[in-house]
Amino acid sequence: MASFLKLFIMIMFTNNNFEFYNTTISGTTADDTAYGMFMCRGDTPSDLCGECVQNATLTLSNKDCNSSIEGLIWYDQCMVRYSNTYFFSKLAKEPFKEYVSPTKQIYQGTFNRTLFETLNKTAEEAAKAPIGKMKFATEEADLPVFQKLYCLAQCTPDLSIQDCRSCLNLSINGNIPRCCAGREGARVLYPNCMIRFELYPFYGSQLQHQQV
Ligand SMILES: *[C@@H]1O[C@H](CO)[C@@H](O)[C@H](O)[C@H]1NC(C)=O
Ligand SMILES: *[C@@H]1O[C@H](CO)[C@@H](O)[C@H](O)[C@H]1NC(C)=O
Ligand SMILES: *[C@@H]1O[C@H](CO)[C@@H](O)[C@H](O)[C@H]1NC(C)=O
Repeated sequence: MASFLKLFIMIMFTNNNFEFYNTTISGTTADDTAYGMFMCRGDTPSDLCGECVQNATLTLSNKDCNSSIEGLIWYDQCMVRYSNTYFFSKLAKEPFKEYVSPTKQIYQGTFNRTLFETLNKTAEEAAKAPIGKMKFATEEADLPVFQKLYCLAQCTPDLSIQDCRSCLNLSINGNIPRCCAGREGARVLYPNCMIRFELYPFYGSQLQHQQV
């Protein structure tokens, strides 16, 4: 896979689309074929996206990963994935990763109700874009005592509306109640989707990509 990763970096950087990109690199035999993709968080400016993907790909191609037939890395602003198995347009329910804020919210009842409502709304918004379009949304909601909740949801553009919704529902109704409800912030990351919430604005305000 090492040579694949080098090729992947080259192809990505001659490509103008710095939001999502997938590619197939054929080897001499079918077993050598490699599939790769990257996706940047919907609010990430192009230059930062490129830098993030480059960093992620370099990390994947370091000595720990470059002999693996599959790799997946999530950064704050981007994700990169490769495999020797075709994975485009397929919903993957594993692996997943959860990052949880150590701080608990003090208004548990109100907070959790608002949290699930707002995450649902964000997921609905992100999932409604057709295949091939960016599936990204952010929503804000008011909390007691002048606090605000910030939510973000995103799926890879190769997913159908239904698969995107399933992936986000799994995160919201499967992961969050178990890992992260009542916390001040959390991230749930799947190969095809991610959600995040915080009590501070963590995403850029210029969502110029959202409309495409
Ligand atoms: C990218 O993924 C789509 C499915 O979403 C697939 O049809 C297409 O062949 C892939 N492109 C490349 C270059 O692998
Ligand atoms: C990429 O890596 C460099 C060096 O470690 C770091 O300074 C930079 O912040 C990283 N950029 C992104 C977008 O992750
Ligand atoms: C969120 O959506 C799920 C189904 O997708 C539903 O079961 C749940 O009740 C909803 N929660 C809220 C608070 O709207």
